[in-house]
Amino acid sequence: MSSFPIILGIESSCDDTAAALIQNRKILSNVIANQKIHQSYGGVVPELASRAHQQNIVPVVNEALKQAGIDRNQLSAIAFTRGPGLMGSLLVGSSFAKSLSMALNVPLIEVNHMQGHILAHFIEDANENSPEFPFLCLTVSGGHTQIVKVSGYFEMEVLGETIDDAAGEAFDKAGKILGLNYPAGPIIDKLAKEGNPEKFKFSKPKVEELNFSFSGLKTAILYFIQKETQKNSYFIQENLNDLCASIQKTIVDILMEKLSTAVKKTGISQVAIAGGVSANSEIRNRLKQMETEKNWKVFIPKFEYTTDNAAMIAMAGQLKFEQNEFAEITSKSVAKYLI
Ligand code: KG4
Ligand code: ZN
Repeated sequence: MSSFPIILGIESSCDDTAAALIQNRKILSNVIANQKIHQSYGGVVPELASRAHQQNIVPVVNEALKQAGIDRNQLSAIAFTRGPGLMGSLLVGSSFAKSLSMALNVPLIEVNHMQGHILAHFIEDANENSPEFPFLCLTVSGGHTQIVKVSGYFEMEVLGETIDDAAGEAFDKAGKILGLNYPAGPIIDKLAKEGNPEKFKFSKPKVEELNFSFSGLKTAILYFIQKETQKNSYFIQENLNDLCASIQKTIVDILMEKLSTAVKKTGISQVAIAGGVSANSEIRNRLKQMETEKNWKVFIPKFEYTTDNAAMIAMAGQLKFEQNEFAEITSKSVAKYLI
């Protein structure tokens, strides 16, 4: 084994309990326990998430060590998500990380979850090539929607963000109106492939600068569906694929318009994407289209590094380790944590 430090990353900000090991930008293991319990509630229930993290954290960390073939005494540091996220969820990961760092007498590293999403691009096998500074990153998930200018590993500036719902939430809430299971994003993506994206038009929000808003779209979809189902109670069943395609197109249009404005404004045409919604096939197609049409250089990391995961926390942890940036044992979890 080479002498590069081995970092354990722990992620527990929302409803995934995850642990990963990294050494010299190479992921040795990447384990995630998803919490199925929220499916029947149509969204994440914070108290249930916190309890599930408590049950999962020890087995998940043990599994990550086992899969990597690493003994805990070989660990050089423990990195954990400090925030943003659900307080009860964050506390499970941070308490565990603190205890383990004390027990092993290794340093503790706190990571901003949003920075983690972006820094996942620097994992060795995330992309063919890593982006070069400066680049723009669109982070789109169930909890976040941001356009960030990234000038260095920890030199980030939020250029725009959502003022209400996140893009993933827009998919999930629209899906709920259509009677689809949670999370509806991947289901809408699949059904949209058989639908006509031009069939139904939903107006786009007018939001200043590079900010986003998705709550108006949700309301517009709700009223439209209520009106149509009053006339025809089978409206959803008869038009499901077209509804999915039209809703997906509207959400992706909103994202792409702002991203294009950001590229024009900054003159930066290296564009990366992160977060669960980056799995969406329409957004991937549209980004690739921009590579040929507008000469953008696009970075779409491997799927396992885009949704919530601990590999990204371990990666950010490694970069902080290299800079000797360690946390105190008194580190406090924060629900809102600016980049
Ligand atoms: O990053 P993530 O796993 O967790 C956080 O929310 O932080 O993102 C989950 C979100 C959900 O809202 C889900 O519906 C959405 O990503 N999502 C998708 C697709 N796959 C996941 N949305 C649209 N199309 C997809 N293929
Ligand atoms: Zn996330």
